[in-house]
Amino acid sequence: MKAVQFSRYGGPDVLEIVEIDPPHPGPGEVRIAVRAAGVNPSDWKRREGRYRKFEEIRFPAGVGVEASGIVDEVGPGVSSTFVGDAVFGYGEGMMAEHAVLTHWVHKPDDLPFEIAGALPVISETAWRGLDELSVRSGQTLLVSGAAGGIGSAVIQLARVRGTTVIGTASPQKHDYLRELGAIPTTYGPGLTDRVRQLAPDGIDAAIDVAGSGIIPELIAIVGDAAHVLSVADFSAEEYGAKFSRGPPKDPERVLADVARLHSKGLFRLHIEQSFPLEKTAEAQIVSAAGHVTGKLIISP
Ligand SMILES: NC(=O)c1ccc[n+]([C@@H]2O[C@H](COP(=O)([O-])OP(=O)(O)OC[C@H]3O[C@@H](n4cnc5c(N)ncnc54)[C@H](OP(=O)(O)O)[C@@H]3O)[C@@H](O)[C@H]2O)c1
Repeated sequence: MKAVQFSRYGGPDVLEIVEIDPPHPGPGEVRIAVRAAGVNPSDWKRREGRYRKFEEIRFPAGVGVEASGIVDEVGPGVSSTFVGDAVFGYGEGMMAEHAVLTHWVHKPDDLPFEIAGALPVISETAWRGLDELSVRSGQTLLVSGAAGGIGSAVIQLARVRGTTVIGTASPQKHDYLRELGAIPTTYGPGLTDRVRQLAPDGIDAAIDVAGSGIIPELIAIVGDAAHVLSVADFSAEEYGAKFSRGPPKDPERVLADVARLHSKGLFRLHIEQSFPLEKTAEAQIVSAAGHVTGKLIISP
C-alpha cells in the first residue's frame, strides 16, 4: 500500500510516499481502508522534531493521528465492530491507504467520511478544554483563535452548553464565526477594549487556541488566571493559567456525542481543502502557515 513516512526530522521535503505492507491490528484494534485523514498542526510539529523532548519516535515514522474509513481487518478481542463497518477515530500513520485505529466509533450514515476523519482531535481537545474550565450555561467565553479546527469546535460545543462565545479571527472570517454561533472580533492591539464593548458584564473564561503569546492579556480580561486555559501556549502555567494536554480523555464518548450533535444540525465542520496522499507535504505547508478555516484533509 501507499503511505506517507519520514525518516528524519526536517522540513516538508523529508516526507516521502513509500510502498509498504499494510499494518495489522493488534488486540483491541481495527484496521481501516482510509477514506479521509485529518491534517493537524501536530503532524508538522512532530515532523519538525518539536515534540522530541517528550515523545519517542521510531523512524521511519508515519503521519497523521485521525481518520475515517471502512474496517477491513479486526484485531483479537474486538467484538462490536466488523469488517465492512464505517468508523472514525484515532491511530497512527493515518496518511496511508490502510491504517490501524486504537480508539474509534461507528460513523453514522449522515456524517460524511470527509468530516468524520477530521473530527477526533478538534472535538476531543475542545471538549476537554471546556470541561477543564467548567464552562457552563449563562457564562461568556472568549476564544482566541476561533476560526481554525479547534476554535470551530470550541465555539459550537460551548454554544450547545448555553454559553455565549466571543471569538477572535481576522475580519474576513467574521461571517464564518457568526455562522458557528460566535460574536466575532479581531485579534491584535486593542483586544481588551473590543471585548469590554462586546461583553460589558465581563468574561467568565478564556481559551487560547492560537498560542499567540497573549496569556497575560487574557488573564487581565477574565480577571482570574484559573479561568484561562491554553491548548497551544506552553507558557500558560507560568502565569497561573491552565495548559490542557492529551492523551485524549474518554475519546469514544466524545466522538459519539459529536456525531450525534452533527446529526441534529448542532455541529458542522468546514473542510477548507482536500489533498491526495501525494500532496501531504503541501497540506502541511498550508497548515503551518496558520490560517486554515476549519480543517484540511487527506483523501488517499
Ligand atoms: N493541547 C492539546 O491537547 C492540543 C490538541 C490539538 C492541537 N493543539 C494545538 O492547538 C493549536 C490550534 O490547533 P488548530 O487545529 O485549531 O489549528 P489551525 O486550525 O491551524 O488554526 C488556524 C487558525 O488560527 C487562527 N490564527 C492565527 N493566528 C492567530 C492569532 N494571532 N490570533 C487569533 N487567531 C489566529 C487563524 O485565523 P486567521 O486566519 O483569522 O488568522 C486560523 O483560522 C495548535 O498549536 C495545535 O498544535 C493542542
